[in-house]
Amino acid sequence: MTTDPAPQPTTTDALWNSRFLRACRREPVDATPVWLMRQAGRYMAEYRSLRSKVSFLELCKNPELAAETTIFAAEVLGVDAAILFADILLILEPLGFDLEFSKGEGPVIHNPVREAGDVAGLRPLEDVSALGYVYEAVRKIRDGLPGNIPLIGFAGAPFTLACYAIEGGGSRNYEKAKTFMYSDPGAWDALMTVLTESTARYLNAQVTAGAQAVQVFDSWVGSLGPDDYRRFVQPHMKRLFAAIDPSVPKIHFGTDTGSLLELQRDAGGDVIGLDWRVELDRCWDRLGPEVGVQGNLDPVVLFAPLAEIARQTRRILGQAANRPGHIFNLGHGILPHTPVDHVRALVQMVHEFSAR
Ligand code: CP3
Repeated sequence: MTTDPAPQPTTTDALWNSRFLRACRREPVDATPVWLMRQAGRYMAEYRSLRSKVSFLELCKNPELAAETTIFAAEVLGVDAAILFADILLILEPLGFDLEFSKGEGPVIHNPVREAGDVAGLRPLEDVSALGYVYEAVRKIRDGLPGNIPLIGFAGAPFTLACYAIEGGGSRNYEKAKTFMYSDPGAWDALMTVLTESTARYLNAQVTAGAQAVQVFDSWVGSLGPDDYRRFVQPHMKRLFAAIDPSVPKIHFGTDTGSLLELQRDAGGDVIGLDWRVELDRCWDRLGPEVGVQGNLDPVVLFAPLAEIARQTRRILGQAANRPGHIFNLGHGILPHTPVDHVRALVQMVHEFSAR
């Protein structure tokens, strides 16, 4: 739960003392750090223009373009951290899945897991260099970012990846994934083990390449009740967090996790992500002062008039009450039609309203 990170050799003083990394370590800051999930994406005209020339997968696999996309978004918004431009599903390709991002439909996996035998055929990520284009992007981003802006690496959590691997795409109720989990706990465990080990190696390779922190996205874990989380997910999450390089802070993110927060905290992470369905102050009291919290503005509030954005920003900062360890963010990613000027205004408001 608590890590005592020693400075990495590549971490300069300016990075080490950045607002974002200070907040990850629950140290006092001059203003609350803010970054936004999906800060590089379709709501930006420059991104849409780039995407009219290359597919999403081509963009992810081109380190030069992925680096430019990451750096551009961080600069335009004035945020306190950059996040690697990539996707949580990329790791599925070297594991043997046939991944496609189809127009309108979102991600599709053409050869999903349907029975225990499909799990036995999976290749664990022995050689991390299969995702070498990601580490190359990390190196380019680190070279191109200002010296006081940390880079966040990321990966999907095993449960969320397993949902995609079994469902073959997005899902409303995760019927196939959860049925698999309940029906064949042994095969579920084997699948989760492959995903956990692969993800740990992948994240550590991102850190070696130059990421200063990592976020684990368990976006769909809120579909489970506490007992199922404890049985089918938590042991794997404990192993995952224990295997990640102890020198970097870890953000543990999920949505709809109001009933799982203590279990997620016990699984690992220095900072716990909260979505807008919960009260930040009450959740932080539940979690205790040994972890930071990230969140938790509703992404849809960014469509509202600036006065409403300001009101909700002040409310969240008021709930955090200058406790060390708050990182301002949305409760989930920026939506495609969000007005860019509202996003920039939000970043300015967080800094202005929280200046100590
Ligand atoms: O946050 C960032 O700016 C970094 C980049 C990033 C992307 N995806 C880029 C992306 C990150 C961190 C992700 C994580 C991700 N990907 C998650 C976890 C976060 C979450 O939203 O819960 C999930 C579940 C995915 C899977 C995924 N990728 C879906 C369901 C989709 C389709 C839906 C959509 O928004 O289009 C994607 C595609 C995707 N990933 C896009 C981007 C910018 C849009 C692709 C495009 O240009 O059309």
